[in-house]
Amino acid sequence: MDDWTILGYLVAAVLFIVGLKRLSRPRTAVRGNQLSATGMLIAVVVTLTDNAILSFEWIIAGLVLGAAVGAVLAVKVRMTAMPELVALFNGFGGGASVLVAAASYLEAVDLQDDPARMTGAAALAVLIGAVTLTGSLIAFIKLREMLRWTGFAGMRVITIGATVVTAVLTVLMIVDSSSQWLWLLVAVAALLGVVAVLPIGGADMPVVIALLNSLSGLAAVAAGFVLDNSLLIIAGSLVGASGLILTQIMCVAMNRSLPAVLFNPAPSAGDGPSADDVYAGKVRSTSADDVAMLLESAERVAIVPGYGLAVAQAQHAVRDLARRLEERGSDVVFGIHPVAGRMPGHMNVLLAEAEISYERLVEMDNINPTFEQTDVTIVIGANDVVNPVARTDPNSPIAGMPILDVDKSGVVVVIKRSLSPGFAGIPNPLFASDNSLMLFGDGRQAVVDITKALQEI
Ligand code: TAP
Repeated sequence: MDDWTILGYLVAAVLFIVGLKRLSRPRTAVRGNQLSATGMLIAVVVTLTDNAILSFEWIIAGLVLGAAVGAVLAVKVRMTAMPELVALFNGFGGGASVLVAAASYLEAVDLQDDPARMTGAAALAVLIGAVTLTGSLIAFIKLREMLRWTGFAGMRVITIGATVVTAVLTVLMIVDSSSQWLWLLVAVAALLGVVAVLPIGGADMPVVIALLNSLSGLAAVAAGFVLDNSLLIIAGSLVGASGLILTQIMCVAMNRSLPAVLFNPAPSAGDGPSADDVYAGKVRSTSADDVAMLLESAERVAIVPGYGLAVAQAQHAVRDLARRLEERGSDVVFGIHPVAGRMPGHMNVLLAEAEISYERLVEMDNINPTFEQTDVTIVIGANDVVNPVARTDPNSPIAGMPILDVDKSGVVVVIKRSLSPGFAGIPNPLFASDNSLMLFGDGRQAVVDITKALQEI
């Protein structure tokens, strides 16, 4: 590597680190993203001008194809589908590491160019990369809610078996540098990714997404050692470390340990009481006019957003409602659950888009003790994160997940289109409780109607 390449890589690495640091605060996040993207541009250009690259045609073709697909996705994918896209990105990152490491290793084997020097790194890259690829594809399908199946009874035996076989194949590859072990390792690791992620669902899903994100970085680190490319090692380490930190944050938020998520998945939906048992004859529906009457005399109002707020794109309407309530003298706060929506920080991003100040967003641990003093709580498109069975039913898929204790407030108004379940697929007794009123309809329209009705009082 010449001095210019080293200097370019150094600048790119510094930009990644500074960008990542700025991404940790909402106010500086946009600039952080721009810095990191600039770092990546420098990294790509420097890599392209590095003399070690022999076939520019393929790289340019890949760049054009990748940029075209990325541009179409960036324009077309809705905000609510972002987490699925991130899951795909993680998977493709893992897949890319498999291909890069396998190609370099096989070339070294064919040319008898001392393949042993890279065997360990290549084995790890294809192992972690293949697990990440197939695990992320299963996560993608689950996030799309195309699959709720959590596998069959003896599947854990397959998971343990596949884990042992991958370890044996890794050792065999290191002892005897030959391509057959590599392909076998890719195949068994791909199976491991499927059987490891399939049983995971409900409240554990956010943890597994963060973990796969981290694994995609670790696969890149290993591929970086295969290629002897310092920038790939640095970038992969940053992704791996930040993904691990996020995994830890998600575990704490979900009140679960990582081993429990991986080896002791929460029970699946469908084993608990049916929707009819929970709701029949007990649900009371209301109208926008009646909710406006309630709000008119409320001193303290909490607004709890969930995934449905993102689907309805109700963030601007919610801001207008909050302003109207404040003009009338109410104290308004937003209760934010760490896994509301489908990606970490989903609600913060949405509410920030509507310029709702960060000071008004109150995290779960801080808002929970205040619900008893809250006159009206408006739940907009949230379901699992306010489901009291997390506290009461140890056999539920969300058992033990900390929730927003909205049921403790004076009146709870739940805005959603029907009694359909949320991501975890289970009924929510909150909707049938004595102090709850259901306002059925699209989240944005319902909030607009309440604001209009408030104006007319
Ligand atoms: P959910 O439990 O998924 O509930 C969302 C609710 O929004 C649904 O019950 C749906 O009911 C309603 N909805 C959908 N479209 C709507 C619209 N246009 N207007 C009004 N309501 C609408 O959401 P949550 O409470 O935010 O919980 C998040 C769940 O996702 C948790 O189980 C969490 O573990 C999981 N998860 C989270 C993440 C991260 S990192 N945040 C990642 C993966 C999974 P209707 O159809 O009746 O309207």
